[in-house]
Amino acid sequence: MPQPRTVAVVVGSLRKDSVTRKVARAIEALAPTHLKFDEVPTGDLPLYDQDVEADPPAAWVAFRERIRAADAVLFATPEYNRSVPGNLKNAIDVGSRPYGQSSWNGKPTAVVSVSPGAIGGFGANHHLRQSLVFLNMPVLQHEAYIGGAFSLFGESGELTNESTAEFLRTFTQTFADWIEKTIDQAA
Ligand code: FNR
Repeated sequence: MPQPRTVAVVVGSLRKDSVTRKVARAIEALAPTHLKFDEVPTGDLPLYDQDVEADPPAAWVAFRERIRAADAVLFATPEYNRSVPGNLKNAIDVGSRPYGQSSWNGKPTAVVSVSPGAIGGFGANHHLRQSLVFLNMPVLQHEAYIGGAFSLFGESGELTNESTAEFLRTFTQTFADWIEKTIDQAA
């Protein structure tokens, strides 16, 4: 059994009943038990403003510390206008600074995009990957576009679709292997 690893979970939706968060929770439930998931909220982060970097808001500092403390990152994002929602982009920007001290640097990462539509947030997924490459985050190649997402969950938010569960189980195991491989390579 690999040693315990903390996975910071960044969900790109602020919605209380977010289907994207349900997918993130389903991944957590299906994951190998040595992975500990920590959802790091993005809704309280003031918009990134370089002018206040010398005396950064407490919410920025806390966010950066929580990301830095994690071994890996899982991004779960909805798609807004074929890209990521603004709160997610803001969180990425906040975590990436001050210059040279990015909290994201080198962390093994996975991306899942979620949509009630058929395309499964493909546009958001790939816009996000563009930023992650710039941020030097080794991103799992395993693609995860969860379409038709409103029909996958029961009334209490549990994943009821068996083929999606099977898919996410494989995705999560592949991510767990990717985390170990990336950490081993960096050692
Ligand atoms: C959307 N939605 C959407 N869906 C999609 O598949 N592609 C898109 O480009 C967009 N664009 C978009 C823009 C804006 C401003 C909103 C509010 C919504 C619909 C979106 O997939 C839907 O609201 C999901 O429920 C969002 O995910 P959560 O919040 O349930 O996790």
